[in-house]
Formats: sequence, structure tokens, C-alpha cells
Amino acid sequence: MLNFNFCAPTNFHFGRGVEMKAGEIIASMGGKKALVHYGGGSVIRSGLLGRILETLDAAGVAHIELGGVQPNPRASLVYKAIDLCRKENVDFILAVGGGSVIDSAKAISVGIPYEGDFWDFHCGKAKAKERLPLGVILTLAAAGSEGSSSCVITQEEGNLKRGSSSDLNRPTFALLNPELTMTLPPYQTACGATDMLAHVMERYFTNTDGVDLTDRLCEAVMTSIIEAAPIAMKDPANYDARAQLMWAGMLAHNNSLGIGREQDWASHQIEHELSALYDVAHGAGLAVVFPAWMRYQLEVNPMRFAQFAVRVWGCSMDFQHPERTALQGIERFEQFLRSLGMPTTFAELGAKEEDIPYMAAKCKRNNGDKLGFFRPLDTKMIEDVLRLAVR
Ligand code: NZQ
Ligand code: ZN
Repeated sequence: MLNFNFCAPTNFHFGRGVEMKAGEIIASMGGKKALVHYGGGSVIRSGLLGRILETLDAAGVAHIELGGVQPNPRASLVYKAIDLCRKENVDFILAVGGGSVIDSAKAISVGIPYEGDFWDFHCGKAKAKERLPLGVILTLAAAGSEGSSSCVITQEEGNLKRGSSSDLNRPTFALLNPELTMTLPPYQTACGATDMLAHVMERYFTNTDGVDLTDRLCEAVMTSIIEAAPIAMKDPANYDARAQLMWAGMLAHNNSLGIGREQDWASHQIEHELSALYDVAHGAGLAVVFPAWMRYQLEVNPMRFAQFAVRVWGCSMDFQHPERTALQGIERFEQFLRSLGMPTTFAELGAKEEDIPYMAAKCKRNNGDKLGFFRPLDTKMIEDVLRLAVR
């Protein structure tokens, strides 16, 4: 196990009705005026936004609202929100929605006190040093942004989808009521489950030794997602399934599963190129990229893939031919994705083979010119991974 530092100070409130604490919590932290940030309207249709505004009014917290965050949130709305908040003397940001709304709110919260362009944090030009406090009311179990240190924004100019990473991106508090996710269409539930699995797998596929504890934690989270997702899709109002998914999504990405090990993240960076170019759901893009990445990387460490096959997918270990077991695990994973209605090929996603060189060239790299750590990929190798997804 590698040395690590882990600080995850978000205060989580979980369960039925917790969203009604929003006003009281913000007031108790000294918040006087909040920006309530939301997406394309699901929180209006469900009545959630109205309830939240009432809790703010009851607690004496003034507020302004800004909706319109799109999936794969755009920089233009972040700039607009930063200007608005400065003009209105906002001192608290409250995100009500899924990962896109939360990420947009994160960018706003670090962007307001920063004199330069907030995009500096996304292109490696600067590190955030301060922020406005940020509260989250989660409506979609998926990205794990409610507990993560990441913030992913798409800059329309140049069509760049880029993440920034900082502990200042971790929300001050997060209110997680599984009931708020019951209105999700099955497709979004499936995209969410896929994204959570991907967050665990980016950490699970490592060459670091001595990480048995976090391996087993990863396996527990993955098997719980695999059990709960089909239940939530068939029975959207199943509280327990929604609750498992909601907490699994947080655990999958607050890095408690990834500490002390080298992590990969190539599949995520490759997916960001797909969602930047075709504006597809992040989870759907991952369903296409991850199995291809696994097939490409299997030979690097067949025993790790075989462990995944046996412990997560219940495959029997073939000790003579561990690579056969490994491949079986990848096939089971793919079957599972298909059973959720996820695309697993370029055609199903609406992606085009001729765009592969463009995407591979544009992909954000590690510090050098390679991508990922399990077996670092150069541009040609990224193209090979993407070609495996064409089929
Ligand atoms: O916009 P509204 O109308 O609210 O509708 C949303 C949106 O269309 C809808 N939705 C959300 N909650 C709902 C609901 N519909 C009905 N009932 C509800 N309760 O779902 C759609 C998708 O929402 P979005 O927020 O885009 O999804 P998700 O949570 O999957 O977030 C995806 C974004 O997060 C980024 C992705 O790249 C993508 O941009 N990620 C962020 C990460 C992070 N910050 O740590 C890590 C991830 O790897 C990921 O990259
Ligand atoms: Zn993700």
C-alpha cells in the first residue's frame, strides 16, 4: 500500500426528508444569501425546488435562482453565474440536482473569489485557494460529485471537457434522500450505475500490491450496485434499492476505495472525449469504453482481471488458464451492461469510427504524454482501445 493523505470533510445527511434541512444548515453556517443552482427543470416538475426555497425562506436565508445546467455542464453558464453572484453578494452556493448541476456549482464556488478565469483550474494553469461554501441536494445517484474532489466542465470554445481536482471541490454538506431519485427514468438509473461501477474499477485495476482491504471494499460496493440497479430500474420506488445506489455512488468516488494505490482513469479521459464530441450521457460513454479498455489491458495482469471475474461476477477460477477466467469476467460485465439497456458499441452510442484519431489526439494526458497508469497509453494505443469499441 502506498502512503496517502485522505481528507473528506463533507457533512452528509442521509434519508427521507433530509432535504428540508437545507435552510437551517445554511443559516447555522452564517449563510445570508444563497444561489440555488439547478438543471433543465426536473426539480421544478417534481416540486423539489419549491420545497427547498420554502426552507430557505423559513430560515431567513435570502436567495436567487439560476437553472439551465445541461448534462455535460458548460463553461458559459458558469461565467454567467459567477458574474451574477458577485453582483448579488451571494455567500453560499446550493446545488439541487445531479452531477452536472453539482459540478457547475463547484466551478462557481471556486470561481467567485478567484480573480482570473475559473478555467485556469481545469487546464492546469492554477489551483483554487478559496471558495464559497457549497451545499448539495442530490437527485441522481451517479457521478459521486456530492463527495468527490473533482469538477468536470465543458468549455464550448475548443469543445474541451476537462476535470479539475482539489479538496476545495468537496461540498461543505450534502443532503441525500433516496426518494428524490425515484423519478429518474430507467436509462438515467442505468447510466448512473455504470458510472459508479466505473469509478470503482478505475481504482480496482491497479498494479499496487498490498491493497487487499480496499480491493474487498471495492468488490462489496460493485456487487451491491450490480444487485440494486436492476431492482431500481424495475421498481423505481424501491427505497432500499435507491438507498444502496445513492450511498454506493458516494463511496465509489470520494476516494475511500482508492487510497494507497495507483489509479488508472484512462477510460474516464477517453469517455470525456466521446461526451464532448457527441454530447452523450457520461455513463453510456463509459459502457462503450470500459469493456474495450479491459480487453486491451487484460494481458498486462490477467490475475487481477481473474480476481474481478471470480469475486465480483462469481466466475469459477481456471488455474491453468487464468486469462480465460479474466475474459469471462469482462464478458459478464458487458452482459450486465446490456441487461441494463446500456450501449456497448460505437454504433449504439452514435459515435463514428472516423473520429477516433481526433479524439485520441485530444485526450487529456497524465503529466507526460501518456494516459492512465495500469499500462499507460500513447495516442496510437488510445486509438486501438477505441477501435475495440467499434466492433
Ligand atoms: O437537468 P434536469 O432537468 O434536472 O434533468 C437531469 C438530466 O437531464 C436528469 N435528472 C436528474 N435528477 C433527476 C433527473 N430526472 C428525473 N428525476 C430526477 N430525480 O438526469 C439527467 C442527467 O443529469 P446529470 O447531472 O448530467 O447526470 P450525472 O449525475 O450522471 O452527471 C454527469 C456529469 O458528471 C460528470 C460527468 O462527466 C457529467 O458531466 N462527472 C463528474 C464527476 C465528479 N464531479 O466527481 C465524476 C464523474 O466521473 C463524471 O465525470
Ligand atoms: Zn464517471
